[in-house]
Amino acid sequence: MYSIAIDGPAGAGKSTIAKQIARRKGYIYVDTGAMYRAMALFLIENHITPEEAEKISEKSKEADISIVYENGEQVVLLNGRNVNGLIRTEEVSNMSSASSVNGDVRKKLVELQQKLAETADVVMDGRDIGTCVLPHANLKIYLTASSEVRARRRYDEMTAKGTKCDIDVIKKDIEERDYRDMHREISPLKQAEDAILVDSSDMTIEEVIDKILGMCE
Ligand code: DC
Repeated sequence: MYSIAIDGPAGAGKSTIAKQIARRKGYIYVDTGAMYRAMALFLIENHITPEEAEKISEKSKEADISIVYENGEQVVLLNGRNVNGLIRTEEVSNMSSASSVNGDVRKKLVELQQKLAETADVVMDGRDIGTCVLPHANLKIYLTASSEVRARRRYDEMTAKGTKCDIDVIKKDIEERDYRDMHREISPLKQAEDAILVDSSDMTIEEVIDKILGMCE
């Protein structure tokens, strides 16, 4: 089995790029953030707040998260229910960043991710793929961009959808999430020693894809 690990901070373009690489290589794309988001949705629906660490540990045991593929698209199932359309809100983003510090949550989801990589060639993106989930991945990329560029991309995306937003608030949110993801005790976001750093601040999506495909060769 072949595996490509792509880690990096929120908004660096990991999922867009990982999806394209998977398509061109004929691998399966595994979006691990979506699993943490499904878990966060479950906790929100059960009226648990990001501060309630003990309740998060307890309640997370009741969440059965799995992945299926429909027309090549990853579908996240939460207790059998397709939650793809519910996990991209700011509320879920913030809860997932907070609940993913929890050891029980991580253990459960890392096992699921490792099993997936045992059965198929994968491009997997997240925060701890190269450092923890797939330490023996064939290629490891650490994809990043400045917080200004990441906030601008998110702002453009939301504005294009007709959503009103404030770029300074988005940037502050991104920086807070970066801080939490990089400073948590278990599997913090960091570049694996054998990962290749790609800074996409001044690159187009196509340039990043070409660069990574070149590395695959
Ligand atoms: O990639 P994303 O923004 O969809 O991820 C949502 C949150 O989940 C993110 O703030 C950190 C967490 N996460 C994680 O801890 N480990 C991963 N492998 C993927 C995501």
